[in-house]
Amino acid sequence: MYSEDYELAKPNAASLMQSLRAFGYDTATAVADLIDNSITAQASRIFIQFEWNDGNPWISIADDGFGMSESELFEAMKTGSKNPLDVRNADDLGRFGLGLKTASFSQCKRLTVASKKKDDQLYVRCWDLDVVSVKNDWILLKKASDCALKIIQDYFAAESSGTLVIWEKIDRIIPGTHVDDEEYQNAFLSFAKAVKDHISLVFSSYMYGTRKIQFYLNGMLVQMWDPFMSDNTYTTRMPGEILYVNGREVRIKSFILPHQSKISPEEYDQGAGLHGWTAQQGFYVYRNNRLIVAGDWLIPGLEKQEQYRLARIRVDIGNETDSEWNIDVRKSVAVPPISIQKELKRIAVAAQRESSKIYRHRGKKLARSVKKEQQFVWHQNVRNGKLGYEINRNHPIIRSLLQTDTKGEIKQLLSLIEETIPVPMIISDYSEKSKEMLNPFEGKTTDAFDGMIKVLYDMYRSNGCSPNEAIENIANTEPYIYSPEKVSLFCEREGINNG
Ligand SMILES: Nc1ncnc2c1ncn2[C@@H]1O[C@H](COP(=O)(O)OP(=O)(O)OP(=O)(O)O)[C@@H](O)[C@H]1O
Ligand SMILES: [Mg+2]
Repeated sequence: MYSEDYELAKPNAASLMQSLRAFGYDTATAVADLIDNSITAQASRIFIQFEWNDGNPWISIADDGFGMSESELFEAMKTGSKNPLDVRNADDLGRFGLGLKTASFSQCKRLTVASKKKDDQLYVRCWDLDVVSVKNDWILLKKASDCALKIIQDYFAAESSGTLVIWEKIDRIIPGTHVDDEEYQNAFLSFAKAVKDHISLVFSSYMYGTRKIQFYLNGMLVQMWDPFMSDNTYTTRMPGEILYVNGREVRIKSFILPHQSKISPEEYDQGAGLHGWTAQQGFYVYRNNRLIVAGDWLIPGLEKQEQYRLARIRVDIGNETDSEWNIDVRKSVAVPPISIQKELKRIAVAAQRESSKIYRHRGKKLARSVKKEQQFVWHQNVRNGKLGYEINRNHPIIRSLLQTDTKGEIKQLLSLIEETIPVPMIISDYSEKSKEMLNPFEGKTTDAFDGMIKVLYDMYRSNGCSPNEAIENIANTEPYIYSPEKVSLFCEREGINNG
């Protein structure tokens, strides 16, 4: 169609399809986007399969939901199949009409979807980016590859309705073909593990309660991870609150998780989640029960801090206020509307205060009772009128090591470390990204930190200190200066009465 006033500028099929690949998904968030579709389709069982297939790996996501007719499937395969401005059902996890395509192409070049409604036929459609590229046109195939066809037949032999999505040519996960390559096979399995962990977290609210869905990864039922430890009797629940955005409810529940001394080491490691206790604090935003943000204070000016690590706040929103919350295609961003930021900040600060109280409580008595000289690992040093840093030879662990240093090797090592500290790198990193720098022992297993207390304790005791003196010395020795509660915990475990 031509006119004096306008011309039609249709997208170039090959280029646009390639651009759709760059929405920033990883494998876990891409699979989650397809799971959203299955949940919206009322599935009660969702099966994720990672198949190495002798170096030609494929991944499938299958559900027993209500499936699609031929015309619905055709629409579903189009990019932008639905208008984001349309009103959606309250339990619809979609918004943009893009996820199926953008998530899939972020991982693979061939996307096959087979779908069947109850009492209808099975329909199959397939995008192959190589075909689109060569023909430079929107060629949607009506046939699956032999490999995909076999998977489809196997699945629908036992299901009366549902949808099966298959990713082949998964070049963004495993580039090229790698027959008998164990390294790539292991890498492939590690992606499967990341997907499992992500499902445990993101869809945990669907794993219990009225709308219960079973998620299987390679045949194994995925267990939920409850960030709020809501079953634990020592978890504190603060009174729930309801805020409003455009007349729609935002439900908020603050949880203060138990102090380490109240839970078993297994529960403690479990509670740390994927990123550790300090990283997992903050708001958890759920849209229609599906987690979008996992542990972020979200409000400008609020920062993650060690003593706030027990505070996790559940925020529940619906899908009617997606534009107000700036929900993105991947469903991994939610920005609180300005109208409720002040209230959210008040709730966050109250939870942070509670967390600090519980977190610090056990260390308080110990911190007040000590008056000894503090032993740090590093000292400032002036040589030839210039500043440098040296390791404190009086730090008990260093001192004890030096006593065994008959060949002078430890002395040499200390000197090597002192002379090569990457000061410029540290300064530049610290000035550019101070928030991203690790705190002492952050992300390490608790064993590393706790094990050293025992070594120090035995050392002080063998030097003639009483149990109480030994504990006071430890509380004044780096790194325990910053974590008196860890020392209190050690006393409890060892039955030392530090009173
Ligand atoms: N597993 C499925 N079962 C039934 N219908 C499906 C399934 N997957 C996709 N669809 C249909 O295809 C449409 C397009 O899916 P797609 O994920 O691309 O977009 P969306 O879910 O509408 O929005 P979003 O981009 O936010 O995910 C869906 O709206 C739904 O109608
Ligand atoms: Mg979707």
